[in-house]
Amino acid sequence: MSEYELVLRRARVLGNLEQEVDIGIDEGYIRAIAPEIERSGKQEIDIEGKFVSPPLVESHIHLDSALTAGEPRWNESGTLFEGIQIWGERKQSLTLEDIKQRAIKTLKLQASQGTLFVRTHADVSEKNLIALKGLLEVREAVKDWITLQVVAFPQDGIYSHPDNDSLIEEALKLGADVIGGIPHYELTREDGVKSVHRIFELAEKYTRLIDIHCDEIDDEQARFLEVIAACAIRTGMKEKVTASHTSAFGSYNNAYAYKLMGFLQRTQINFIANPLINITLQGRTDTYPKRRGVTRVKELWQQGFNVSLGHDCVCDLWYGLGTGNMLDVAYMAIHICQMMGRKEIDACYDMITQYGAKTLNIEPEYGIIEGKPANLIVLDAIDPYDTLRRRATVHRIISRGRILASNSISELQWLG
Ligand code: FE2
Repeated sequence: MSEYELVLRRARVLGNLEQEVDIGIDEGYIRAIAPEIERSGKQEIDIEGKFVSPPLVESHIHLDSALTAGEPRWNESGTLFEGIQIWGERKQSLTLEDIKQRAIKTLKLQASQGTLFVRTHADVSEKNLIALKGLLEVREAVKDWITLQVVAFPQDGIYSHPDNDSLIEEALKLGADVIGGIPHYELTREDGVKSVHRIFELAEKYTRLIDIHCDEIDDEQARFLEVIAACAIRTGMKEKVTASHTSAFGSYNNAYAYKLMGFLQRTQINFIANPLINITLQGRTDTYPKRRGVTRVKELWQQGFNVSLGHDCVCDLWYGLGTGNMLDVAYMAIHICQMMGRKEIDACYDMITQYGAKTLNIEPEYGIIEGKPANLIVLDAIDPYDTLRRRATVHRIISRGRILASNSISELQWLG
């Protein structure tokens, strides 16, 4: 009997956390999961009953602006719109090398903390498409250890400048995986509606996924989610469509929100909330009480919608903090969305793992199941709740069947 390349002994995986199992890995795939695998491994690791999880999933980040905090100046007001303004200045000096170097540094930061699937937005409101070209090169450069999806994202709107419509189409021709939009930041409501129709038209023409920055504002009159719902119903694009942010959903009156929820039930679209950013960028024009600026995560989840979570920003012009750890994102979601029930905490873990995989439409390659690619992480924890409560260290990261990174567990020595 030949050996597996790698065998993990005494792991606990979701589905049956009570029983320890061995995981046999060969040629990049999970070959066997059983209480005691007889076949030995060229390398064997005793997991000692720790929690082994599918990798974390980053559903929404802007790698083109990551790690730019303070360049050329700090966002003193802390608002979305000052951030967009400063980014407009910063992107004048973008180069391919600048983008690639910061993006890969951020991806390593994320991968070393357990994230192996990432959807990034690339600003395509700039005539040379530097951000998009840089991130497409990064997608290729990192493909052996992390899966990257690139969204063609018109930061300044599709109709705010005569070139932007053709730039976003060019971005799809160059190979963007997903088409994005920002209808609430178009010059008029009519332009916003038109932009959503245009996004669906292009997505169908080039067979791409859709992920729209939608209603990222406290204005309860920002109602582009209903336009996305209508387009999703008419096209039948279902899970190929994602609405990111939908902050205004948190400000809608309940009569409208419940009506909208009914329409959304006919769509099967995904939602992404970015709690670290929503709580800091929104509510800025309120005095007191201040709104949280986050969408109705709990209610959407309760209604059976697929909801996942993202950073949005890591140390950039909109958010000067962040280490790229998805456990921080889920931890913040638990607080802002009041997901403190035991099942609700577990759901927040799902939002940075399997629900994220569903949003990215990568379910066939995701999960700890025999026959799937061997992507998994070993946590210094016993289950998702323990992982989130302590924001546990990710002890080992296994990507495509090989150990990508490991982190020794340091334990506090109490000397008192
Ligand atoms: Fe975003």
